[in-house]
Amino acid sequence: MLVDNHGREINYLRLAVTDRCNLRCFYCMPENGIKYVDRNDLLSFEEMYRIISVLSEQGISKIRITGGEPFVRKGIMEFLERVSKIKKIEEINITTNGTFTEDKISQLESIGVKSINLSLDSIDKQRFFDITRRDLFDQVMSTYHKLLASSMKVKINMVVMEGRNIDDIHPMLELTKNDDVSVRFIEEMPFNGTTGQGNTTHWPMKKILETIQEVHQIEKIVDAPFSTSSNYKIAGYKGSFGIIAAYTRTFCGSCNRIRITSQGTLKTCLYDNGVISLRDILRSGSTDIELTNQLKNTLQKRPKDGFEAEKNRNLNSPVSESMATIGG
Ligand code: 5AD
Ligand code: SF4
Repeated sequence: MLVDNHGREINYLRLAVTDRCNLRCFYCMPENGIKYVDRNDLLSFEEMYRIISVLSEQGISKIRITGGEPFVRKGIMEFLERVSKIKKIEEINITTNGTFTEDKISQLESIGVKSINLSLDSIDKQRFFDITRRDLFDQVMSTYHKLLASSMKVKINMVVMEGRNIDDIHPMLELTKNDDVSVRFIEEMPFNGTTGQGNTTHWPMKKILETIQEVHQIEKIVDAPFSTSSNYKIAGYKGSFGIIAAYTRTFCGSCNRIRITSQGTLKTCLYDNGVISLRDILRSGSTDIELTNQLKNTLQKRPKDGFEAEKNRNLNSPVSESMATIGG
């Protein structure tokens, strides 16, 4: 079992399989993109598989595949297939922008993927274009409908941004009226790949909630254990909605997750600077035991929350990387 220095048990891994993406979401990347990691510096699928196998023996039972956009990486389906066969991995979930996902849905179902988080920040075609800088709204909506009809649970991630998609809050909620979907409103974080353009307390959780309550009576529903979202329902609506205080960071006390970036850097907090390179450990010929020991040592130095992690960062590296580099 992996337990950190604050007594939190770690059973959840978020693994970024690539830093590449075909969209240019305003809150994630500048218009001309980010400097992608050299291909040789990315973890190979073989390396990812080994890391997951080792971690699964230490109590990691749930994995989320993120990016960048996971489905731009060649070989991803074969990789998922293999991971699904690791005995102690009980749950695989994926976060995707939905542009290359539609034709893979039936295969994902048969692999046993449990849920898909679709990044969708607007259900207005023009606003979608303004946010993502790509004209792929119709494709993403088509993916959405096909996902709803699949065996996988569907969640929508909407980053709430001042001056961009505030008018989408209510239409997004209306999706939950007839669709079995969970819409999650996410506070914007300063991970947009542009130093100095951090923002962002414009739309904290409280304000999002108040905006919803101006129109609706809402009921709190029970949050899944270790959930980062606080979840609600509108009476009579089929789906639900949640708010993720990603910037306010109210959920750190029960954090059960670690992250591995596409280059194999372990992050014990989204806001830290990356603590060790699992890739370098693997490539130096370490054994599984050595890898496990290094990981365990790192967990003994884990910051207690995202504020402490941010404070500990090297001054030369403010929180400004792209979410695609970090892994969502
Ligand atoms: N702030 C908040 N959420 C973000 N995401 C990406 N960048 C940011 C940011 N700057 C979220 C998107 C996507 C997930 C991978 O991360 O909603 O769904
Ligand atoms: Fe791509 Fe996701 Fe970043 Fe948008 S938020 S540019 S879809 S990685």
